[in-house]
Amino acid sequence: MIKQPEDAKNVIPMRRGLNLRPQVWTVASGKGGVGKTFITSSFGITLAKLGHSVLLLDLDFTGANLHTALGLKPSHLSIRQFFEGEKKISECIVPTQIPHLSYVQGIWDSWSPIALASEQIYKIVEEVHQLKYDYVIIDVGPGATLENLILFQMADEKVLITTPEPTSIEKSYRFIEYYLCTTLKEGSDTEAYSHLIQNLREYRQRLLNEPFSIKEFVKRNEGISQRAYAKLVEKPPRLVVNGVRTQTAKTLGHSMRSVCHKFYDLDIHYLGGIDFDNAVWQSAKSREPVLLSQPFTPLAGQFLSMCKHLIDPTDLRAVV
Ligand SMILES: Nc1ncnc2c1ncn2[C@@H]1O[C@H](COP(=O)(O)OP(=O)(O)OP(=O)(O)O)[C@@H](O)[C@H]1O
Ligand SMILES: [Mg+2]
Repeated sequence: MIKQPEDAKNVIPMRRGLNLRPQVWTVASGKGGVGKTFITSSFGITLAKLGHSVLLLDLDFTGANLHTALGLKPSHLSIRQFFEGEKKISECIVPTQIPHLSYVQGIWDSWSPIALASEQIYKIVEEVHQLKYDYVIIDVGPGATLENLILFQMADEKVLITTPEPTSIEKSYRFIEYYLCTTLKEGSDTEAYSHLIQNLREYRQRLLNEPFSIKEFVKRNEGISQRAYAKLVEKPPRLVVNGVRTQTAKTLGHSMRSVCHKFYDLDIHYLGGIDFDNAVWQSAKSREPVLLSQPFTPLAGQFLSMCKHLIDPTDLRAVV
C-alpha cells in the first residue's frame, strides 16, 4: 500500500464526501459590470484545480455570459429547459474543458430581464442541494432583485463584489441594506418591516456620521425576532474588491467593513482584493480563461488564497 504523506490532505484537498450536500456560494453585487462572472469562473477554475468537483450555475437573468468567461460557446442545453419544465437542473449540466468543472448555461438569448416567481428560485435551491458536487457557485445578475437576494440568503458563502469606484461602493451599501431588511423580515410582521425600511430611509437623509444601529432598533422593536437577527450575523457576507490598481483600493475592504459594523452592526468579512489586470478582458477575447493561460500570476495567487480561506479558514499556509 502506498503510504500517504502526513499532510497530503493539505496539498490536494480531500473530496468533501458523497453524502454531504454541496456547499453553495453565491456571487452578487450592487452594481453591474464589477466582475461577478469573472470571479465566479475563477473561483470555479481554482477549486477544480484543487481537485474539487465544481458546478457553476449561471443565474444572471439580465443576459447570461458565464460561458464567455469560461471561453466557451453558448450551449443549446440551458436552464431555460428547467424553467419550461422539460428538465431537472441535473439534466442541464454541461461539462467544460477543465477537469472537475461543469456548468449550467444561463439564458443568453433573451432581450429583456426574465421575471421569475420566488417559488421557481426555491425550486432551484432545492435541486441544487441534491446535486453530487463539492461546490456549486452561482453567478447572479446585478443589483438587489428579489431572486438575487433569495440566492444570496440561501448560500453557504455569500460573496459580494465591488470595485473601488464610488458608484460601485454606494450600490454595495444599498445591496447590504436590502439584504439586511429582507433577512430581518423573515419571522417579523409587515408593520415592523415597514418601520425598518422607514428608519433606513430617514437614516440616509441624515448626515452619514450620525450613529445608527440596526441591532438597537431590533432590540426596541418586538416585531422583528432576535432569531432573525441572530441568523443574519451568524454567517455574514464576504466582500471582494475587484479591479484593484492602487494601495488605497487594497485597504478599501477594511474601511467598508468598519462602516458596516458601525451603521449596520454587521461584521462583513473582507476576503481580499483582486488586481486589475488587462489580461482578464483580453482572455475573454481570446476565449481562454486567464487562470488557464497564465496560471502563476499574482492574480491566480489571489484567487487561490481566497478559495483556500473559504474552504478552510484555519489553513493559513502559503499556497503558491
Ligand atoms: N480584475 C479585472 N481586471 C481587468 N478586467 C476585469 C477584471 N475583472 C473583470 N474584468 C473585465 O470587466 C468586464 C466585466 O466583468 P464581468 O462580466 O465579470 O462583470 P459582471 O459583474 O459579471 O457584469 P454583469 O453585472 O453585467 O453581469 C469584463 O470585460 C471582464 O473581463
Ligand atoms: Mg456577469
